[in-house]
Amino acid sequence: MPVKIAPSLMCANLLELRQNIAELERAQVDLFHIDVMDGHFVPNLALSFDLAEQIARSTKIPLDLHLMVDRPEDFVESVRRVGAAYVSFHIESTANPIRLARTLKTSGIQVGAALNPSTPADALTYLIDELDYVLLMTVEPGYAGQKFIPQVLGKIKQVRQMLDAAGPGRALEVDGNLNAEWARQCIAQGASILVAGSSSLFRKGTDLYTACLDFRAGINQELHQ
Ligand code: DX5
Ligand code: ZN
Repeated sequence: MPVKIAPSLMCANLLELRQNIAELERAQVDLFHIDVMDGHFVPNLALSFDLAEQIARSTKIPLDLHLMVDRPEDFVESVRRVGAAYVSFHIESTANPIRLARTLKTSGIQVGAALNPSTPADALTYLIDELDYVLLMTVEPGYAGQKFIPQVLGKIKQVRQMLDAAGPGRALEVDGNLNAEWARQCIAQGASILVAGSSSLFRKGTDLYTACLDFRAGINQELHQ
């Protein structure tokens, strides 16, 4: 499965968002990752549904909406309005994930479940058949700029096997502190979508276009084991 790069727009310069998006478009990134937080499920706020909707209208690059909110089922209408191609909700945040996955599917959305670093792969057992992809957090959700939690590497391998057993073409997204080195290790375990935030693309002193080329080159290098 070819690896997709999904720049995390919460790490963009919001005062220059249109220019940032244009540079990322020129670098032909695959998806735009948009974090929506509620200050309850995670102790922070990030981008809004309204902003996501405006971004969706201004680009041809598909949106990857990552909901970090309690009771994501309460936001179905807002999610539909955005028009994102991919939407993930946290398995820890809802009592009825199968119902929510089915509801979102009726809008033609690729539906994913996101797992916090300490949530075991087994939590997916009775849900995975309803999903198009899984998002594994490699840091605790809520903030950019945290340190990679290496215990998740084993879980990536486990979830890759579960996805393959569920059917062909199911993606595995990873999110948090993905510099080229950690990204390579995640890919080796079976990750196929990389959220690229402050550890790779959004760094001071490098323009976004060059940072994308560097990151792509970096993830294509051999693993140093
Ligand atoms: C964390 C966010 C990420 C984050 C990833 O909850 O979902 O988008 O910005 O990028 P890093 O960890 O490299 O800043
Ligand atoms: Zn995210």
